[in-house]
Amino acid sequence: MAGIDYIERIPNNVNLSENRRLQRALEEWQPRFLEWWKDMGPNGFQAKEVYLRTAVSVDAQGWAKFGHVKMPEYRWGIFLAEPEPGRPINFGDHKGNPAWQEVPGEYRGTLRRLIVTQGDTEPASVEQQRHLGRTCPSLYDLRNIFQVNVEEGRHLWAMVYLLDAYFGRDGREESEALLQRRSGDRDKPRILGAFNERTPDWLSFYMFCFFTDRDGKYQLASLAESGFDPLSRTCRFMLTEEAHHMFVGETGVGRMVQRACEIMREHKSDDVRRYGGIDLPTIQKYINFHCSVSLDLFGSEVSTNAANFYTMGLKGRFEETKKGDDHRLKDATYAVAELDGDRIVVREEPALVSLNERLRDDYVADCQRGVNRWNETIKSHGVDFELELPHRGFHRAIGGFAEVKVSPDGRVISEAEWDARHHDWLPTEEDRAFVQSLMQSVTEPGKFANWIAPPARGINGQPLDFEYVRLA
Ligand SMILES: [Fe+2]
Ligand SMILES: [Fe+2]
Repeated sequence: MAGIDYIERIPNNVNLSENRRLQRALEEWQPRFLEWWKDMGPNGFQAKEVYLRTAVSVDAQGWAKFGHVKMPEYRWGIFLAEPEPGRPINFGDHKGNPAWQEVPGEYRGTLRRLIVTQGDTEPASVEQQRHLGRTCPSLYDLRNIFQVNVEEGRHLWAMVYLLDAYFGRDGREESEALLQRRSGDRDKPRILGAFNERTPDWLSFYMFCFFTDRDGKYQLASLAESGFDPLSRTCRFMLTEEAHHMFVGETGVGRMVQRACEIMREHKSDDVRRYGGIDLPTIQKYINFHCSVSLDLFGSEVSTNAANFYTMGLKGRFEETKKGDDHRLKDATYAVAELDGDRIVVREEPALVSLNERLRDDYVADCQRGVNRWNETIKSHGVDFELELPHRGFHRAIGGFAEVKVSPDGRVISEAEWDARHHDWLPTEEDRAFVQSLMQSVTEPGKFANWIAPPARGINGQPLDFEYVRLA
């Protein structure tokens, strides 16, 4: 059944035509989604043809279809991973029972909130990035941001499907509200802080894909473990799209790192800016910023909400079923970094309330692997510099570290030291203005802005000078 029905107005693999009520609700939502896309989606490129990939089925071969499409004509739809007959709930109080095919009544509000919070991030990032097309460093990069944008749009469809199909009238109201909130809007902002920040330049965009989208990957991975089976299947398919966003972020930053190193070697100078590149210390500051705001997205270190989501069977751990413990965690503990006066210590906390921190640990380890690969690039150029993730207490607004100032290397410091040093750690106005000054659009096929190296290969076997976006 892996095939997706493209004859329908809404492509889907959920037999939508057999559920008239749901089909009507989604068909009413569809034109409003398109209005939102035209208002808040990529600015200035709606009529251009973009070399996009579209899912044709949900199995591993399903990504084969590439072609030039105008973004508003992209076939957004509803794709769930294959059902696994007899799938049980794998954790929490209901462990061992069959997974729910309908919303368990007592968890209805909690589940809806989880879905709405995830859903809200999807259109938010499209809004944050909508002006970047005008300053693209190449047609290749332009195509990649648009691919990410249409897929975030599809992730919104994924969450709206769950709301409309399983939550009745309040679900439909939430679907509406997802199109009403706006990133950065003072009166109706998006729900989570990082999704109201600006993404003003391509360095920020690639950092966002690397750090903030990766938070999305970890949230989706824990929701993919959910005992609510439709949510699990939806998230499992979303993760295949998310993998591409990780690729865009890691290679995007990697190519800037590479270019900085090339300039340093070519000119035998550390003054990369002078030669129109982005220097490694500036890249480090952007890492510090984007990593810290993304760490906040995981929530407090100690959280009864996180414990409840788990005990209820709604949200599992990353790779829950690969873990060898009892999957109830009532008596287990977990090591959590905490403040003790002006020191940071590691304490054993009850595992259930520490689930946010555990997911954050999985996330940090994943980020570190990407940073290691950037450092290999630096080393291979014979440059003596190492990029680092900041300490998890650095520049935090949520959780135990929010009340103090912590340096990137993990020392609790005074306000005075913070005031004196934070310009060395976070992008300053001047840094941002410099990065902005480099943002000039390059749209000749095969050409790349001076501050970013070309990728190792093109998309889907196409050459680098392929017309990834037809601007004419
Ligand atoms: Fe997404
Ligand atoms: Fe994403």
